[in-house]
Amino acid sequence: MADAAATTIPPQNETVEIIELPCPRCRRSPSEKKSPCIMVIFGASGDLTRRKLVPALYDLDCDGLLDDCFRIIGFARSQKDNQQFRSELKQSVQEFAHPGKFSEEQWNKFAARLYYHTGKYDDRDSILQLHKLLSDPDLGCYRGHYLYYLALPPDVAEKTLEVMRDANCVPPPEKGVEPRIMIEKPFGNDLASAKRMNRLVLDLFDESRVYRIDHYLAKDTVRNLLVFRFTNAIFESLWNRNYIDNIQISATESIGIEGRGGYYDQTGVVKDMLQSHVMQVMALVAMEPPLAGDIESVRDKRNDIFKALAPLGKDDYVFGQYRGYRDEEKVDPRSVTPTYAALRLHIDNWRWQGVPFYVRSGKNLKQKITEVVIQFKTVPLCVLPNEKMCSLVQPNTLSIRIQPDEGIKLSFMTQVPGREDKISGTHLDFTYSEEGWRPSEGYERVILDGLHGTPALFWRADGIEAAWNTVTPLIEEQHPNLVDRFPNYEPGSWGPEAADQLLKRDNRYWIST
Ligand code: BG6
Repeated sequence: MADAAATTIPPQNETVEIIELPCPRCRRSPSEKKSPCIMVIFGASGDLTRRKLVPALYDLDCDGLLDDCFRIIGFARSQKDNQQFRSELKQSVQEFAHPGKFSEEQWNKFAARLYYHTGKYDDRDSILQLHKLLSDPDLGCYRGHYLYYLALPPDVAEKTLEVMRDANCVPPPEKGVEPRIMIEKPFGNDLASAKRMNRLVLDLFDESRVYRIDHYLAKDTVRNLLVFRFTNAIFESLWNRNYIDNIQISATESIGIEGRGGYYDQTGVVKDMLQSHVMQVMALVAMEPPLAGDIESVRDKRNDIFKALAPLGKDDYVFGQYRGYRDEEKVDPRSVTPTYAALRLHIDNWRWQGVPFYVRSGKNLKQKITEVVIQFKTVPLCVLPNEKMCSLVQPNTLSIRIQPDEGIKLSFMTQVPGREDKISGTHLDFTYSEEGWRPSEGYERVILDGLHGTPALFWRADGIEAAWNTVTPLIEEQHPNLVDRFPNYEPGSWGPEAADQLLKRDNRYWIST
């Protein structure tokens, strides 16, 4: 195949050539080859492709999980050819793939799968030209056996979908060949745009072939929430308003925006972390048991949580911005984009009446910790011999550490040995590292599920709209009068003082292990 830069643009009304079955290279039929044979990454020059997607694809290739015929086409605006694309990605793979997996031999095998095509996302000719390239026999594929991957900001993704629909270039599923689409978060900018995107995408693909990504759902430690809750009767029987006082979910990050000012200033913490990752973790912690283990039963119960979220009141949230954010590259010097947010959420259903869910996330904080802490109620009466001992009694907590130092910890009170009447808090502990387990960060699983056609660990249209319904008023709150209140926390701190007050008002405090 000639380098992408040299491909000529087909005239507007040219139809895309159809390659006959079977696959021109491996001679297998689509039903033998279940996974798509070309992945098209829109936004291939971006940070996500470099840091997460391509290193994850390389790791999958090392583990023998990519079909021999599988090819990856990067599509983006920057002018470059296949060779340049490959050499840039070689550095990324060396830096971000699993340590110890890089070898020249393995890289050369992987690099031969990579192609690049320059084009504009909102341009019909570019999109048609890309589809012409997809029919190139050197890529060896049936027409339509594609996995589109939109690693684009929501407004650009919407435009791209519009062009794809108008150019009529996505082939309908036939003879076992099923085009699929994966879309990066944030899915939309607010409720209205998420609805528009859903309409567009569902015009082109049916729901079972749409994968709205949230890589947290694919993390081993997040997937474990379902197993932990629904295979252990001792915990599940306490998992309700009768025994739980409050639940805290933290996703704090020590990194800043890492040169992603252009993206982040348009997005902010609410869309970047809360509406997506934190909400999904919360849904897994709060959901009712699914009717069965199938994909839709689990998604139904997760979505019920988004639908039951009570509207937020003025006292239910705190925003923050770290000192120095406005000096970051590509950030507006008067930006009102929050880099920190803490919310008090209520789930309006039977199980969780009166149990607040405190969630927080922010950049440039003291430590990276993603964790769920369940604080149980205090005992109804202290029956220890004296007041001093009673004053030391702490409520039990169950902490589920999603990353780093992945594990689960149950705290409880115990008698200290000796002549004195003394008690102390202690804990039962499980860590992944002691088991010799290395939980995955998510992207490998995200891609593998897209290739295998398993949408369990992805958002469904109704769920994402319900989550936006709660969060959209918060985004509308980010108006210019916030300028006077920002910046309000120092890099390296735990965030703004007001986030502590949010809990203090309820006689509670942030618990972290
Ligand atoms: C991404 C956000 O979705 O998740 C980033 O865009 C954030 O801003 C990242 O840093 C965190 O993911 P992880 O897997 O490193 O916790």
